[in-house]
Amino acid sequence: MIRFLENYSLKSHNTFGIDVKAKYFFEFTEAEDLDIFLDSNKSWQEEKVLILGEGSNILFLNDFDGLVIHPNVPGVEVVNEDRQNIWIEAGAGENWDEFVKYCVDYGFGGAENLAFIPGTVGAAPVQNIGAYGQEVANIIEKVKGYDLSEQRIVEYTNSACSFAYRNSIFKTRLKEKFIILSVTFKLDKFPEYKLNYKALEQKVARFGEINLENIKRAVTEIRTEKLPEITETGSAGSFFKNPVVDIAVAKKIEKEFGEVPGYSAGEEKVKLAAGWLIEKAGWKGYRKNDFGVHNKQALVIVNYGNATGKEIYNLSEEIKKSVLEKFGIELEREVNCV
Ligand code: EPU
Repeated sequence: MIRFLENYSLKSHNTFGIDVKAKYFFEFTEAEDLDIFLDSNKSWQEEKVLILGEGSNILFLNDFDGLVIHPNVPGVEVVNEDRQNIWIEAGAGENWDEFVKYCVDYGFGGAENLAFIPGTVGAAPVQNIGAYGQEVANIIEKVKGYDLSEQRIVEYTNSACSFAYRNSIFKTRLKEKFIILSVTFKLDKFPEYKLNYKALEQKVARFGEINLENIKRAVTEIRTEKLPEITETGSAGSFFKNPVVDIAVAKKIEKEFGEVPGYSAGEEKVKLAAGWLIEKAGWKGYRKNDFGVHNKQALVIVNYGNATGKEIYNLSEEIKKSVLEKFGIELEREVNCV
């Protein structure tokens, strides 16, 4: 299946719900069709390109004056297995949470802590989604995609993906140059549960037995309690990354403001909770017109209806400025601003 549209509204293609238009929009389900499309429309090479999954980590500031490519490759297939592991290839267009459900239903461990994260399978490696002590990089075997400059299919093994905290080669060197078609995951038939995250451990304990199903259920509940429901309120999850600072910086903040939540991040470094910094800077629950800061998690900026991308971006600038003034820490956006 392919769809090619001109002057097309992207409102339903970004979870912030920003109403901007794409000059061209191309959706495909088969890699072959992408190849044919690009081959027969040489003029696309002059266009700016944007690769868009479910748009759950993007903020549009303007109409997109170029070609939006929407990979919608379906399919979930077991490609290999041994006594301990199972390898599953999933199409880029598959919904992430549905994929997690599939894994949990069949008893394959590794994805359960990442339940209920919005977006597609193809988007998961781009920003290396992570939550509750797990990152998708830990369960990815390889990523297959279409290299736009070479016009051919290329595979990246896990180590070639340069995975880091909310980062990968697909967000840096290969940005808008590589269209992910499928991801192969290596999952565990005898899972080791990751319950280092306190709130998760406590919730699972309340459900009884520690198993994949209960972990998925607990993660889903915690996310529902803290994060806005994207079908009702526009957002893109955490707007900023958690900043990594020297221990000395954290100690100084602690002296002045009391204990700051953080996680050890290597020698002499600590990753601080940006949500806490933003809350202490007075932004939690802030609202003006249709944009604001979520009242249960200050790391999340929200669109209550008809906010524009620019309004949200300007708010993020103000937040950055006040956190810098108060704590001397420069926040970095996690969301991709286009
Ligand atoms: N906190 C506050 N005030 C707030 C928000 C948080 O004091 O407004 C404190 C919390 O009480 C807690 C600490 O900050 O002690 C950490 O908060 P939380 O557990 O909610 O996690 P986070 O560090 O804010 C990160 C990820 C989330 C992920 C959670 C759970 C980033 C940028 N965000 O948030 O990922 O779900 O951990 O693992 O790393 C996303 O990337 O979109 C996302 C939602």
